[in-house]
Amino acid sequence: MRLVICRNAHGAAMQLADLIEDRVRSEPKLNLGLATGRTSAGAYEALVRRHNACTDFTFRHVSTFNTDEFVGLKPWDSRSTRFFMNYRLFKHVDIPLENTMVPRGDAVDVESEAKAYELLIKARGGLDIAVLGLGHNGHVGFNEPGSSAKSRTREVEFTESTLAALSDGNRFQSLNETPRKALTMGLATFYEARHVLLIATGIGKANAVHRVFDGKPGPSVPASLLMDHPNLTVIVDQDAASTLRKPPQDTVHV
Ligand code: GLP
Repeated sequence: MRLVICRNAHGAAMQLADLIEDRVRSEPKLNLGLATGRTSAGAYEALVRRHNACTDFTFRHVSTFNTDEFVGLKPWDSRSTRFFMNYRLFKHVDIPLENTMVPRGDAVDVESEAKAYELLIKARGGLDIAVLGLGHNGHVGFNEPGSSAKSRTREVEFTESTLAALSDGNRFQSLNETPRKALTMGLATFYEARHVLLIATGIGKANAVHRVFDGKPGPSVPASLLMDHPNLTVIVDQDAASTLRKPPQDTVHV
């Protein structure tokens, strides 16, 4: 595992954008797993800027697979993952929209939708990279504490702390309007990615980072179950790393 500690959240977003850009340039047919949220949004903004500034940086042959979607939301709902991705990244670069996959949160049969999404990822050759944001309680995608290392794409229910974080006024204005469930890729889906990229920034993530690195891996901190992935890069800023006691050997400061 490689840990990259950046000076601040902006630096972490640039590191993530650099990594994605390098891979898209060297493997134009990349299968890219993507997270939503504040942490990754900065990287997507940078990718859009770079794409618009360089004619040879293209997403034409890239396929993307988002890690999760809220159950019950239509794709055109401004709070959905699909909407976030369309307006933060997809509509500003040259990726064909049909190459951008997000599970349908409004599917009539959510269980079948989850199974079909997992099969689709496999049929398309699996994920080359899974970009994952870290939740306050150690979740990745929406694999909440208690999730199994063997979990696959499925419907999950949010914990109280995730509900509180989601209804902070950024995406959802109140607890009342926050969906109770999501469709999320599972931990086994992430583990099968050829490269896992985990990103966490801000003092609010320091405790989660500490628990992921310093504690015993287990389902109570879902991200910790990915720590023995053979090709894992974790990008944090100094704030998120501030309570880290046991940084891995391969730690770089940038
Ligand atoms: C949720 C989302 C992830 C996101 C993470 C962190 O777990 N399912 O996709 O990466 O939150 O969000 P933020 O970066 O806004 O803290």
